[in-house]
Amino acid sequence: MIVEYFAYFAMKYLYYILVLIVSFVLFREFFGQPAKKSAQSGTPGLTSYKSSDSSENRKTEVEVEPALPRDLEHIPYHYVRKPEKELLARASEFYQMAAARRTLRSFSTDPVPKEVIHEIIKAAGTAPSGAHTEPWTFVAISDPTTKLQIRNIVEQEEEINYKKRMGIKWTTDLSPLRTNWIKEYLTAAPYLILVFKQVYSILPNGQKKIHYYHEMSVSIACGILITAIQYTGLVTLTSTPLNCGPAIRSLLGRPSNEKLVLLLPVGYPTEDATIPNLHRKDLSEILVEID
Ligand SMILES: Cc1cc2nc3c(=O)[nH]c(=O)nc-3n(C[C@H](O)[C@H](O)[C@H](O)COP(=O)(O)O)c2cc1C
Repeated sequence: MIVEYFAYFAMKYLYYILVLIVSFVLFREFFGQPAKKSAQSGTPGLTSYKSSDSSENRKTEVEVEPALPRDLEHIPYHYVRKPEKELLARASEFYQMAAARRTLRSFSTDPVPKEVIHEIIKAAGTAPSGAHTEPWTFVAISDPTTKLQIRNIVEQEEEINYKKRMGIKWTTDLSPLRTNWIKEYLTAAPYLILVFKQVYSILPNGQKKIHYYHEMSVSIACGILITAIQYTGLVTLTSTPLNCGPAIRSLLGRPSNEKLVLLLPVGYPTEDATIPNLHRKDLSEILVEID
């Protein structure tokens, strides 16, 4: 009798019961223990969360400290607004400078002052980074022995890359650029700048510091680095030597949280240097305007 009554009741109000269950689940999903969820997913900005231990029915407090000082000072931003006419002139001037940048593969051995390299790397270090983690290390090499060791590693791997790993499509696509596994520029250029991304770092208290968006942050720093080289009046070659990362990292004694991203020879072009006659996409091909 009771079972029958219950079944009748359930059928009659099935719709309301379902709505109630769905509302309960959704409420728990969106409002249940929000701080704990965010802390687990590494979301910054939370100060602490309380997790309830139901077996002992007591609260445990876990402190989450921000990587930057909690009482970080915020200061006025001094901005000098430029007249509109000047904006266009400056943008055009910057474009001309950027457009003149080309990848060079033939480097003079003429030396470049160390201070110039320092300023270029300082510029790259101004890049924005996820939660201001600055997840980059720049290794500047002028030592001839180390440059030769790097050249040996790169040429050894590149020969295998070209002959076995890259495949016919890739090597065919590269052929108009006339590249191969011989990399004279690695010993000729006065400087090699190697950019490492720090996947994470270790705080002074021994805790692991999360580097949010390290890939994108380092890519932006690389863009600034390449543009700074160009603005300075030097040339470079953007290279990502395939499969050389671990050997170069260990040669340079870099820690395991760092991964090689770019290898840039920096210096002057040889007098007989040539470049492929490439053309860049027109503005109409790269811009979508929504006015
Ligand atoms: C991520 C990346 C990796 C590259 N790797 C190499 C490389 O290993 N060797 C090389 O000779 N050029 C390399 N280049 C240079 C490109 O071939 C070059 O940028 C492209 O041909 C356009 O020429 P430009 O830089 O003169 O405008 C690389 C460029 C980029 C952006």
